[in-house]
Amino acid sequence: MMRKKDFERVFSKERITKLIDEFGAIGADPNGGVTRLAFSSYDIKAREKIIRIMENELGLKVRIDPWGNIIGRREGKLNNAASLMTGSHLDSVRNGGKFDGPAGVLGAVEAIRALNELKIKTFHPLELVVFTAEEPNDFGISTVGSRGMVGKLSKEELLNIKNNEGFSILDAIKKIGGDPDRFHEGIRKPGEIKAFIEIHIEQMPYLEKEKKDIGIVEGITGIHRAKVIIHGVAKHAGTTPMNERQDALVAAAHLIKTLNKLASTEKNTVATVGQISVKPNSINIIPSETSLDLEVRSYHKSAIKKILEDFYNEMSLIGKVYGVKTSIKDTYHTEPTTFSPYIREKIKQACDILGFSYLNLVSMAGHDANHIATIADTGMIFIPSHKGLSHCPKEWTDPIYLVKGAKVLAQSLLILDQEN
Ligand code: GLV
Ligand code: MN
Ligand code: MN
Repeated sequence: MMRKKDFERVFSKERITKLIDEFGAIGADPNGGVTRLAFSSYDIKAREKIIRIMENELGLKVRIDPWGNIIGRREGKLNNAASLMTGSHLDSVRNGGKFDGPAGVLGAVEAIRALNELKIKTFHPLELVVFTAEEPNDFGISTVGSRGMVGKLSKEELLNIKNNEGFSILDAIKKIGGDPDRFHEGIRKPGEIKAFIEIHIEQMPYLEKEKKDIGIVEGITGIHRAKVIIHGVAKHAGTTPMNERQDALVAAAHLIKTLNKLASTEKNTVATVGQISVKPNSINIIPSETSLDLEVRSYHKSAIKKILEDFYNEMSLIGKVYGVKTSIKDTYHTEPTTFSPYIREKIKQACDILGFSYLNLVSMAGHDANHIATIADTGMIFIPSHKGLSHCPKEWTDPIYLVKGAKVLAQSLLILDQEN
C-alpha cells in the first residue's frame, strides 16, 4: 500500500503547529513553559477543546470512560472487530513544555483527519484516547487513566489520596466526567484492542544526534518510586552543639548523595530525588523531619532491585550515625516493558514505505503505552526532541517531525488494518 503521494496532499505542518500552539497556550506560564496539571482548570479546558475537535472536526463518537479517559471512536467496516487504538495525554508537568503528550494526541488527530480526507474506511474501528493524569500531579499519582484501563488500579487504592487542599482524587475524577463507582466497566478486555500505538517526543538526544526521523521504541524503562521519611529532633540551631544534633535534613542529604552514587554505576539506569519537604523549615531550627520522593529507573529489572537493596541498607546504617529514624513506603512501580516485535516491525515497514530514516531506542521516560502493553500489542513512535530537552520550557520538536510522526502512525495503522 503506497500512501506517500496521497499523504503529501493531506497532512499539514501548519495545521498541526497551530494546534500545538493553541493547546500550549492553555496553562502557559508567564515566563515560558506550560503548567497544565491533571484535573486543574487548564486540564479541563484542554479536555473540552479536544472533545470539540474530535466530535466536530473528525466526526468521532466521543465518550468519557469511568476513569476519565476521553475516547473517540471511528467505526470500521467489520462488525465486532478489535480496535486499533492510538493517543497520549494532554496534562503536563509543572512548568513543562508543550509537546510532551500533545504531540501524541495531536499527531493522532492529524492522522485521523488525513484518513477522513482520503475517504479511507478501515476494517477495524479506530480509537483515539486521551489518557487521564499521565504525569505526577497535585495528587502525587501518575498514569491513572492507562492503569485504570488495564485493571492495574482500583478504587480502594485511590480512596485516601487527596491533594493539599484535602480534595480527593475520586472527586477529581468525577469532576472530569469519570465515575469511580463504575471503574470496573472501564477495564478493557484482552482481545478488545488489536493494537495500541502512541506517538511521543523522544525526550532524549539520540534522534537529533544521529539525524534520524523516527525512533522505533524497543521498550520502556521500569520505574520504582518511594517516599522516605526521616525523623530527627527539632532544637535551637544556635545553642545546640554540632555533636548533639539529630538533623533530619543532614541525614536526607546523605541519602540523596547515596542514591545518586548507586545509580551512577549501572547501565541504562538513573535515580533521582525530585521532591523534598522539610519540617519545620525555619532558618534557626534544626530540621525535625524530612520527606524525600525518589525514583529509580532502569531497563534492567535486576538493577532496580540492587539499587533499592543497597539504598535500604544505607538507610538502616544512617539511623545510628545521625541519630534519626527512617521509614520508606513504595508509591509506584512498573516493570520494564519490551514492546511487541510485531508492532515494531509494522512501524518499520511504515517508515520504509514513507522513506523515513529510523533508530531503535529504549525509552527512559514512562508512558501510558507501558500499561496498555499488558493487554494489547503495543508500540511507540518517537520523534526528535531538540537537544533531548523535556519536562522544561525549552522542550521543542521541529514541526516537520510532528508531521512525519503522524504519517508513520497513519501508515502503521493502515498496515495493521490489513491483518486479522
Ligand atoms: C513521564 O513523563 C515520566 O516521568 O517518565
Ligand atoms: Mn512527561
Ligand atoms: Mn508524556
